[in-house]
Amino acid sequence: MHIVRERVEQELNQAIQQSDFTQLQQRYTAQGEFLTIQNFFSPPVVDQLMEDVTQVRPQLNRNYIPTHKKGGSVSAYLLQQKAPAILAFYRAPVFIDWLSRLAGVPLLLCPDHDPHACALYFYTEPGDHIGFHYDTSYYKGARYTVLLGLVDRSTSQLVCRLHTKDPQREITELSLRTDPGSLVFFNGDRLYHAVTPLGEAEERIVLTLQYVTDPHMGTAKRWFSNMKDAVGYFGWSALFRRPT
Ligand SMILES: [Fe+2]
Repeated sequence: MHIVRERVEQELNQAIQQSDFTQLQQRYTAQGEFLTIQNFFSPPVVDQLMEDVTQVRPQLNRNYIPTHKKGGSVSAYLLQQKAPAILAFYRAPVFIDWLSRLAGVPLLLCPDHDPHACALYFYTEPGDHIGFHYDTSYYKGARYTVLLGLVDRSTSQLVCRLHTKDPQREITELSLRTDPGSLVFFNGDRLYHAVTPLGEAEERIVLTLQYVTDPHMGTAKRWFSNMKDAVGYFGWSALFRRPT
């Protein structure tokens, strides 16, 4: 566990040092708090994370909301038990510090009881997709999303609409692949996004990490957030903190 954490932190340090922070920050701001970087993580990092994916994959929860989403998910609860590399990645201080500097605000981990804090999304059956949505924050502070591409043998696209809440800017739409090693970072309340349906015999696996500026949440919002997670992502057992 300790060795895994050290290795992940070392790899992260290297990726961060090799990137041009000023240029990335300019792009992040110009794109309305949205940034994507291809090949940010090296194949050894992806391999390390994929070892965890193999461990948890048999326990993924399939979900289907007609017209909105279809796919498989693994919640933070199961990752906390069986995915040391993913957890080390999510919690690495050097990574959180780098993201905070990009966002221009101090970012914090989500509480351990949030099943979305870090999660895996599996697009493995034809038609798996998610419709347009914001990663709305139910927290008292803002919520930021990191997506890390792990597997992309698919024709699916992550479709991103930028500047939808900025009347001064024209809305721009981008379509992206999430190839292994790619990173996407955005303010969840700012980016309107979707994933187009998976084709036959295709596969796409993405790791998502969530950070917040204030980890507190009101009771009503906690209830709504839990219901949404149970129906849309991780199943009812997630409400009781049991991995699916
Ligand atoms: Fe999303």
